[in-house]
Amino acid sequence: MSSTDSPWWRSAVIYQVYIRSFADGDGDGIGDIAGIRARLPYLADLGVDALWINPWYPSPMADGGYDVSDYREVEPLFGSLNDAADLVEDAHAHGLRVILDLVPNHTSDRHAWFQAALAGGPGSAERARYLFRDGRGPDGADPPNDWRSVFGGRAWTRVMEPGGIPGQWYLHLFAPEQPDLDWTSPEVRADVEQTLRFWFDRAVDGFRIDVAHALMKAPGLPDLRTDLDWPEAARRPDPHPHWDRDEVHDIFRSWRAVADSYDPPRVFVAEAWVPKPERLAAYVRPDELHTAFNFDYLRAPWLAEPLRRTIDATLAEHATVGAPATWVLSNHDVARHVSRYARPQTDKPVHSLQALLGLPADLELGRRRARAATLLMLALPGGAYVYQGEELGLEEVEDLPEEMLQDPTWSRSDHTDRGRDGCRVPLPWSGDARPFGFGPGADAWLPQPDSWRTRTAQAQHDDPDSSLNLYRAALRLRRELPALGDGALTWVAAAKDVLHLRREPGFACLVNFSQEPAPLPTDGRVLLTSAPLVGAALPPDAAAWLASPG
Ligand code: GLC
Repeated sequence: MSSTDSPWWRSAVIYQVYIRSFADGDGDGIGDIAGIRARLPYLADLGVDALWINPWYPSPMADGGYDVSDYREVEPLFGSLNDAADLVEDAHAHGLRVILDLVPNHTSDRHAWFQAALAGGPGSAERARYLFRDGRGPDGADPPNDWRSVFGGRAWTRVMEPGGIPGQWYLHLFAPEQPDLDWTSPEVRADVEQTLRFWFDRAVDGFRIDVAHALMKAPGLPDLRTDLDWPEAARRPDPHPHWDRDEVHDIFRSWRAVADSYDPPRVFVAEAWVPKPERLAAYVRPDELHTAFNFDYLRAPWLAEPLRRTIDATLAEHATVGAPATWVLSNHDVARHVSRYARPQTDKPVHSLQALLGLPADLELGRRRARAATLLMLALPGGAYVYQGEELGLEEVEDLPEEMLQDPTWSRSDHTDRGRDGCRVPLPWSGDARPFGFGPGADAWLPQPDSWRTRTAQAQHDDPDSSLNLYRAALRLRRELPALGDGALTWVAAAKDVLHLRREPGFACLVNFSQEPAPLPTDGRVLLTSAPLVGAALPPDAAAWLASPG
């Protein structure tokens, strides 16, 4: 299917802007809307179709902006509502759509609703918007159940009641500063729809849905029984009391109706970490969310067979509901893929650096694999996500000084898990010294490695072999070639450790995962390679995009 018959989001390449670390316009060392606006020409030139911007709402930043205190305003560190409107207008003028981040599972504890819930006391209407419960045990001193926070520790915090006595507990699947909303509350549902409309009315093109799989909890909030030894294959009860419950889908159907009431219709992408591809497909049924991140693909090792299995399972499941697949290698929550691929690969899903620590890292190998991975990802049917800085071939920064770490994972794990700051280091744009053109100030909120002087956008711009120019060339071809984007693929028989796929009309992608040269198909015209070709064979870890002359 050519891109002209299909809506834009079925084949879009969407660039993730982690706003704190993208570009700083005002010199305070923190990225902002002015920084994004100034870099729109770079993004348009890169050749992506849209931006997804991480939360830019007022926030105490207990979790990098995922603790929102007002959903219909802009955080002053990042700019104003007027700046937001100007950005959307400028982006559209550059041919770029804008997707924001909706955080519906929890608010900040500084949100007016949570403050009112604290003041309202047990049984109040204000508490019914959240998940307050009495504790167990004598004096209610034990939490209401055994659920754990994703960031470590228990998922419950006890509050002081207005009279100054220890009282009820509230649920927070993430940090204590992120109290979970009760999605059985009609008021919660109505308010979030109002937020959707607020931004859609301001010409925003869609939303990424934060932890879409978390919104509904099992009635009665039953124990997880973390004391039980769940079978390794399941590692969790099914159905789970707070992840991926069937009841979430009704919420998405109502949001879809809101999005479809706009012209042009607005779109959604789900962040849903679910155990199986068929569970993911449920989120993208025709009357629910449009697309979902493919975390199975992100977690797959750089090995031919596991990747092919993941691709096949993804395409098969998405086909059952008529939704396009998406492909993603990195984001602000996972270790950058250059650093994951720099380690020995085993057939075991991995996304955090924690699992890789201690394994020898070969960053040059990681970068070669990352180049090939980019071409493979952009050749697959559907849409793709590019996390800021991956186009520069950036690696995870693994040696940030401990005192600078800000991810709540670090403190909540008793300083055993460094968390996600290493993939959030501000981008290097230009120059020879830190902060490498990140902003007009002297610093960036996390220090960049000195070695990034060779990886700045400026340094890579005129180097034909740079990672940046590989992305630019691949994205340009993706727009030009009707075979790419939405559609189907056919596998071609290939040597062991080689993936060879075709897209019609006349396009092939061949990836060699082995250390042996792989024979090149003879009927093709090489359009782009991730490494120089030697004779008629691909060097190890190389990918080539091939198109037959017809
Ligand atoms: C999502 C976000 C992550 C955040 C969490 C809680 O997983 O991507 O950054 O910490 O939700 O909102």
